[in-house]
Amino acid sequence: MTIKNITEHINNTPLIELRKIYKGKGHLYAKMEHIQPGGSVKDRVALQMIRDAYADGRLLKGMPVIEMTSGNMGAGLAVVCGAFGNPFTAVMSVGNSPERVKILKALGADVILVPQISGEPGKVTGPDIAKAEEVAKEVALKTDAFYVDQFNNPSSVKAHYSTTGPELFNELGERLNAFIAIIGTGGTFIGTSGYLKSKSKSVKCIAVEPRDAAIIKTGRVINPKHIIQGTSYGYIPPQWDDSVVDDIITVSDDEVSRTKELLGKAEGLFVGFSSGANVAAAIKHLEQLDNYTSCVATILCDTGFKYSM
Ligand SMILES: Cc1ncc(COP(=O)(O)O)c(C=O)c1O
Repeated sequence: MTIKNITEHINNTPLIELRKIYKGKGHLYAKMEHIQPGGSVKDRVALQMIRDAYADGRLLKGMPVIEMTSGNMGAGLAVVCGAFGNPFTAVMSVGNSPERVKILKALGADVILVPQISGEPGKVTGPDIAKAEEVAKEVALKTDAFYVDQFNNPSSVKAHYSTTGPELFNELGERLNAFIAIIGTGGTFIGTSGYLKSKSKSVKCIAVEPRDAAIIKTGRVINPKHIIQGTSYGYIPPQWDDSVVDDIITVSDDEVSRTKELLGKAEGLFVGFSSGANVAAAIKHLEQLDNYTSCVATILCDTGFKYSM
C-alpha cells in the first residue's frame, strides 16, 4: 500500500479479538488505536478538528495552532498540523510523562510545560488541567493562533460518530452487545455510542471510571489521583451526554496496571493505562454476562511507549 500523506493512515484501525487475556464464554474485541500515526485514538479527532476548522474558515494556511493536552491530542495535532503546514504548540501539565514531551517535540511541536497545582508526576488532576488550559488560552490570544479547545470542540464527538462507530458496526454489526470506553473529553464514548445506538436498539454503552474518582457514577471524588492519565479529571466533561450511557463500571489502579501488563505479555499489545482500564472493565462485564453469544468491544487508546513505567 502506498500513501501520499500520513493523514491517509489515520482511522480504520484493526479490530483484534483478545483470546488470551479473556478465556470466558463470550468474545472481547478491541480497536488498535495505539498504532495510529500519533500513537493514540486522538489522531481521529485531530484530523476532524483541523479539517472542520479549515472548512469554516477558523483556520487558514500557515496560521499557528495551540492546544492544552495530556499528550495524545497534542501528538495527533502535531501529525495533522505538520501535514497541513500549520505550526503547532502543545501546552501541557508537567505531571504527564516526559515521554510525551519527547514525542511531541520529535513530531515538530513546540511544548510549553505548566507546573502542577494539586497532582503529582504521573497523576494529573482537574486543577492541573485547568491551569494548563488557562495558559494555553493566554498564549493563543497573544499569538493570534487557532485554539483547538478539545473539551468543548464538537468535532471530537463528530470524529467518533463518523469513524469509530461505523468501523465497529461494519465489523461486528448486530452481534455487538456492548461498547465499553473510558472518559477524557468523552468524545470517544459519546460519539461511538451515539452512532452504535442509531444502528442497534440492543447495544449497551458502558462508560469506565476510576474506582475512587467516579464522578459520573457516584457524583463524588474520594481521591482525584489515579494512574489512568488522559482521563477522569474529577469533573463531568462539558460535552457529556447522559442519554447514551447504560451503565458505568469502575476499576481500581491495581486492576488497571495488572491488565495493562497482561495485554503486553499475553496478547503482544504494548498499550497505556487507559487501555488497561477499558479491557479490565470489559472483562468484568463479560464475566457478569457469562454467555457464549456475548460480544463486547472496547478501545486500546494509546501506546505504552508514551509512559515511563
Ligand atoms: C490515554 C488516553 N486514553 C483515553 C482518552 C479518552 O478519550 P476521550 O477524550 O475521547 O474521552 C484520552 C484522551 O485524551 C487519553 O489521552
